[in-house]
Amino acid sequence: MNSDEKSFHMTPDEFRRYGHAVVDWIADYHARIESFSVLSQVKPGQIRASLPEDPPAQGETFDAILKDVEQLILPGVTHWQSPNFFAYFPCNASGPGILGDLLSSGLGVQGMLWSTSPACTELETHVMDWLVSMLGLPEKFLSSSSGGGVIQDTASSAALCALLAGRERATHGSSNKKGATGRLVAYVSTQTHSSLEKAAMISGIGTDNLRQIGVDDNFAMRPEALARQIKSDLRAGLTPCFVCTTIGTTSSNAMDPVAEIGKICRQHNLWLHVDAAMSGTAMLCPEFRHLQSGVELADSYNFNPHKWMFTNFDCNCFWVADRKALIQTLSILPEYLRNQATESGAVIDYRDWHIQLGRRFRSLKLWFVIRHYGVEGLQHHIREHVRLAQEFAEWVRNDDRFELAAPAPLNLVCFRHKAGDAANQTIMDRLNRSGDLFLTHTKLNGKLTLRLCVGQTNTKKRHVERAWQRIQEEAGKIGK
Ligand SMILES: Cc1ncc(COP(=O)(O)O)c(C=O)c1O
Repeated sequence: MNSDEKSFHMTPDEFRRYGHAVVDWIADYHARIESFSVLSQVKPGQIRASLPEDPPAQGETFDAILKDVEQLILPGVTHWQSPNFFAYFPCNASGPGILGDLLSSGLGVQGMLWSTSPACTELETHVMDWLVSMLGLPEKFLSSSSGGGVIQDTASSAALCALLAGRERATHGSSNKKGATGRLVAYVSTQTHSSLEKAAMISGIGTDNLRQIGVDDNFAMRPEALARQIKSDLRAGLTPCFVCTTIGTTSSNAMDPVAEIGKICRQHNLWLHVDAAMSGTAMLCPEFRHLQSGVELADSYNFNPHKWMFTNFDCNCFWVADRKALIQTLSILPEYLRNQATESGAVIDYRDWHIQLGRRFRSLKLWFVIRHYGVEGLQHHIREHVRLAQEFAEWVRNDDRFELAAPAPLNLVCFRHKAGDAANQTIMDRLNRSGDLFLTHTKLNGKLTLRLCVGQTNTKKRHVERAWQRIQEEAGKIGK
């Protein structure tokens, strides 16, 4: 056999056989997922210690690899797709999402330019336009208007892009050329996600110039405090450039008053970004859209279908009202990327809409999800999650050992045992160690607070009931 004929690649027949085996494995995994401890119980280093020190010199059989997934990897997996996962914000998934992602891998497209795979760009534009009406967003976000949408990896990247665009708008493009001056100021609330702090670091704004505006009793940004701070910064000769409001903060799902904050931004010509990372999905249901009232004043908006909209990680949807502002901020054109379609001006090249150059065909999984569920199916499951969380909040309200720690506008309930921080920590640790469910905590008004978020694809009433039963059992042991 000459060297050209020699091959270590998987043959198409092998791919078909092993591909079926992997899909079977995933289907079986989902069928038995409730039998695992939701939170992985391994100790640090345990997984690595079970792996061979050196890489294999010769290739191994696929059966051996799959066997090791089961025996070596699975114990170190925290089961985000378990219906008993109530921690953080969800990162849910679904059959159509997973298959769309698989297809994206199968096509292996790198969609940096329209010309490197026109369908990758055009499907994305189309799905992002669909979502504008599905979420009740302003028409200016449509690609047929002044704006448009792009799929990013995460909300963190979207926020960074928004901040960069706001920075460039405020400095008329000079920060990109000369660097940030140290005189630009951006505004968030004390409850804004930490990704904005990172964005301030990366963008050259600097964390000293990121003002954390105070919040009200419901943990929402106080517009009058924002207005005061902007005026004081202007008096000091600084240049305010950007405000981030949140629809559904990470700690407590607080809703910033976008309409009032938007008016202040307009007055001072500041870029208004709306971060609706998880709760944006609720806007599929018209009855929740009052929570984003004022969104028509936003310069940019993002939400993560990879959190609550059954689209497996990663998938962030980011829109801008003025695409030119974003493209001018992020566009570069080296000779090796020049092509006729780009020169014609008739196409979108998404490489100009985010930080990295290369990009996956992520719109496929989103398209699969939207087509599989339809708007009706998506609305149904979101309403169910909200209904279950509201029932849970009611059970907490009716148990005088517990109290709600914040309003529960949607699917997150923040609550605590009245016996104090140590008791809440103990309840949470015992629950998580039991493997029956997974909860995480935050601090609100300095007090340790438990969070229960209903958003996993297959969470049903029985799972939430069981969670409450287990919480009550552990509460019953406090002080004993
Ligand atoms: C409100 C909010 N914004 C941003 C993020 C960051 O999300 P990502 O992991 O997509 O960057 C989160 C994550 O939970 C979030 O809750």
